[in-house]
Amino acid sequence: MSQQSLSVKRDGFTSSFGVLAATLGSAVGLGNIWKFPYMTGANGGAGFLLVYLLATLLIGLPVMIAEITLGRQAKANPITTLQRLAPRGQPWWLIGAFGMLAAFLIMSFYSEVVAWVFAYILKAIDGSILSSDPQVTGAAFGALISDPLQSLLWQWGVLIFIGGILLCGVSKGIEAVTKKLMPLLFLLLLMLCAVSLSLEKASEGLAFLFQPDFSKITGSVVLMAMGLAFFKLSIGMGTMMTYGSYFRDDQNIPSTTVRVMAADLFVSMLAGIAIFPAVFTFGFEPAAGPSLVFITIPAVFAQIPMGHLLMVVFFVLAAVAATGAMLSLLEVPVAIIHERFGLSRKKATLISLLILALMGSTCALTNSTLAEFKLFGMTMFDLFDYLSSNIILPAGGIFVALFVGWVWGFDKLKLALSNHGALANEGLVRVLFFLLRYVSPLLILLVMLKGLGLF
Ligand code: PHE
Repeated sequence: MSQQSLSVKRDGFTSSFGVLAATLGSAVGLGNIWKFPYMTGANGGAGFLLVYLLATLLIGLPVMIAEITLGRQAKANPITTLQRLAPRGQPWWLIGAFGMLAAFLIMSFYSEVVAWVFAYILKAIDGSILSSDPQVTGAAFGALISDPLQSLLWQWGVLIFIGGILLCGVSKGIEAVTKKLMPLLFLLLLMLCAVSLSLEKASEGLAFLFQPDFSKITGSVVLMAMGLAFFKLSIGMGTMMTYGSYFRDDQNIPSTTVRVMAADLFVSMLAGIAIFPAVFTFGFEPAAGPSLVFITIPAVFAQIPMGHLLMVVFFVLAAVAATGAMLSLLEVPVAIIHERFGLSRKKATLISLLILALMGSTCALTNSTLAEFKLFGMTMFDLFDYLSSNIILPAGGIFVALFVGWVWGFDKLKLALSNHGALANEGLVRVLFFLLRYVSPLLILLVMLKGLGLF
């Protein structure tokens, strides 16, 4: 596609609800339903939750607002956005380039977990995972992830599915799909919580989730909690910048962002409330790690009336949540390749999917063929996860905050966030600017250095 036709009409979100649904669709995903519960379980429960909440408020929220604002201002992919807004010759565009790398790293393992979810929809339908015996549900999960061919085929199936939606475009693809799916997700999670809360040891599960025990909080746990905050809000790697570029000019960015953050936290809480009472009631191990959800959730459903049907619905919804997030991840390289190289969206999508299929297969085979293949003592699945969440995303966050706080400056931020004076929110912008200029970058840096054991 020529540069000319790119500038004629750039696709974007069409309604205010569409903006909200797509942005929330990016934030809400397997991060809430899979990562949040297992990380909270593995790191001692409520203490971890508290650190995660603080990281979300003090770091996540300001950085997210900053990214969306920059994207909307420049109306371009993250690399072009930073090139347009930064003084000539300064390499801030590297934030976008590293963001694209992070997007591929995250998608590589994320698409494999989505693959498990898709496979579980079929297993839920045929009833083979419906058992309250942890041995049975554990064995079913083990069999799936240790089969190289199944893992690969499911992953590629997921890639084709997500690529297909993206080919329909921003408004007709991303916006249309997420608008339908997000409300459904809330409904189902609420139902699931009601069931879980009626279980025998519900109170033990809730105590685990809500009564802090700080003895488990170490530097590396704090780093993981912060990494989760970045991962959850899809920040530090250009996704929110890209989505910001599709925001409408009259959209109230701070209020949209706060709503997305709150709804995202709410979904994580609901997932925690759905899962931990069951973990304690059926004698599972809260620290089970990435397999937690795939082993406990079937056991919960095995106990309840209509459990079979509800389990199918649950995995469909997990797939739904994951779809919105995957779309936003893939949109980063697609937008960059499409706009920077003047290729059509279709070509950009295909190229991205090809790169992803190659990189992603190292994660798909992590529990089978490549189980012994480790770098820095980690499998590719764990390494990509660790590198992105604990290093690239926080580093991206530091630079976004520094860029807005020290280069772009208060006046431009104020103008952009007030929609050129239409909104009276100067006080809020001042607080935000202070956070971005000093608090967020310093905090992120400290947590990173401490968590990586550098001081
Ligand atoms: N926020 C998504 C989730 O919680 C994951 C994601 C990370 C999406 C980074 C986009 C960018 O599942």
